[in-house]
Amino acid sequence: MEITVRELQEGDIEALSRIEAASFSMPWSEAAFRDLLRHSYCRYFVALSEERVIGCCGYTNLCNEANIDNVVVDPDFRRQGAATAMLNALFKTARAEGVTAFTLEVRVSNHAAIHLYENFGLKIEGIRPDFYEKPKENAYIMWLRDAR
Ligand SMILES: CC(C)(COP(=O)(O)OP(=O)(O)OC[C@H]1O[C@@H](n2cnc3c(N)ncnc32)[C@H](O)[C@@H]1OP(=O)(O)O)[C@@H](O)C(=O)NCCC(=O)NCCS
Repeated sequence: MEITVRELQEGDIEALSRIEAASFSMPWSEAAFRDLLRHSYCRYFVALSEERVIGCCGYTNLCNEANIDNVVVDPDFRRQGAATAMLNALFKTARAEGVTAFTLEVRVSNHAAIHLYENFGLKIEGIRPDFYEKPKENAYIMWLRDAR
């Protein structure tokens, strides 16, 4: 499968909302995605297969620390490198913007995502108790520091 990655555009949001709803118990709304486009410190990326939107990820840059969130791939397109392609673009863009550290939260049971993040050098550094709802679950806090 050929995957391309580019920055999020308004026209991607409807498709992304469907992917969110199929993937998360508390999906982001279309309004939440639209809000991202208004903030220059938020950078979001989508993966495309034959022009179809199949996933997204993004970060908020706070004082050159990037908080990564909303990493998701359409269930029909997983295990084909889409998340890896998006995160490669994310890390490249963030580093070019001067980001020197990356952090994120992930459900402690989400082994697929934890493996994915470990591939990029993130390490588990702490736990946020009961961070998630539906179902209630702890989050691991992962970091990649000195990531110049
Ligand atoms: C996590 C997720 C984004 C991975 O997307 P993907 O496009 O399938 O990931 P890739 O194909 O790029 O896989 C990269 C690596 O992730 C890990 N991985 C992905 N899916 C995995 C699985 N089901 N089990 C174990 N490891 C997995 C592997 O290390 C994999 O590398 P490999 O294929 O060489 O073994 C996807 O499973 C998803 O959307 N999950 C639901 C939403 C979610 O939980 N997001 C994370 C929120 S913190």
